[in-house]
Amino acid sequence: MFAGIAGRYDVANHLLSGGIDFYWRRVLTRMVLRCGPREVVDLATGSGDVAFKLRDRLGTGVPITGLDFCEPMLDEARAKKNKSPAYTDLEFAFGDCMELPLEDNSVDAVTISFGVRNFEDRQRGLKEILRILRPGGRLFVLEFSQPDRWFRPIYYIYLKYILPRVAALATGDKSAYDYLAGTIENFPTKEALAEQLKAAGFETVKATGLTFSIVAIHEAQKA
Ligand SMILES: C[S@@+](CC[C@H](N)C(=O)[O-])C[C@H]1O[C@@H](n2cnc3c(N)ncnc32)[C@H](O)[C@@H]1O
Repeated sequence: MFAGIAGRYDVANHLLSGGIDFYWRRVLTRMVLRCGPREVVDLATGSGDVAFKLRDRLGTGVPITGLDFCEPMLDEARAKKNKSPAYTDLEFAFGDCMELPLEDNSVDAVTISFGVRNFEDRQRGLKEILRILRPGGRLFVLEFSQPDRWFRPIYYIYLKYILPRVAALATGDKSAYDYLAGTIENFPTKEALAEQLKAAGFETVKATGLTFSIVAIHEAQKA
């Protein structure tokens, strides 16, 4: 599905979120910066927006790798990387979150933005992330959440009736965005995702809602 929309993914993202996604990724990057990582892996990196933002903020001393299992999305990331010499040391490579091509205890910080929702087996993916993190290492999950109660009716009308139609015009693929609306509606609340992260073995989890909790960032630490 992501292969089918890769070429229009960025435009659709910014259009459908009214540009707020830039702000969400900025907050995520700021949180990663605060933990002073030695290296960062951005999972389900897609067209690489989080990886690029991390490179802008972290400087070249900190290796950053973006992994994804969809080659056309990685091609988009690589095409953006090739446009600027500032990104020559960014790595984009194939990697399936169900079976990551990384050693145990090898990474300080992992980011994943709008990826966890698409995992075919969420617990397996979260345990796999825990495996590659060093003790004390942190996972930052930026993902859709269940918005504040008062905002839900407006939001669900937008998701069900407006978003798929606008997305169909922008990408030519309405079904991908029907899928998006469905996965957002069925995704757990902040509290429930925090429990799932703890069930996967993370020691502490802190959740921060953004924009009426349309999205949330979960910061989970390995013991
Ligand atoms: C909605 S996009 C998010 C892309 C990017 N992180 C962003 O913030 O724009 C979801 C991405 O997750 C990737 N993905 C989903 N499941 C995956 C898995 N098991 N392993 C690796 N990538 C996965 C898809 O290929 C797609 O590129």
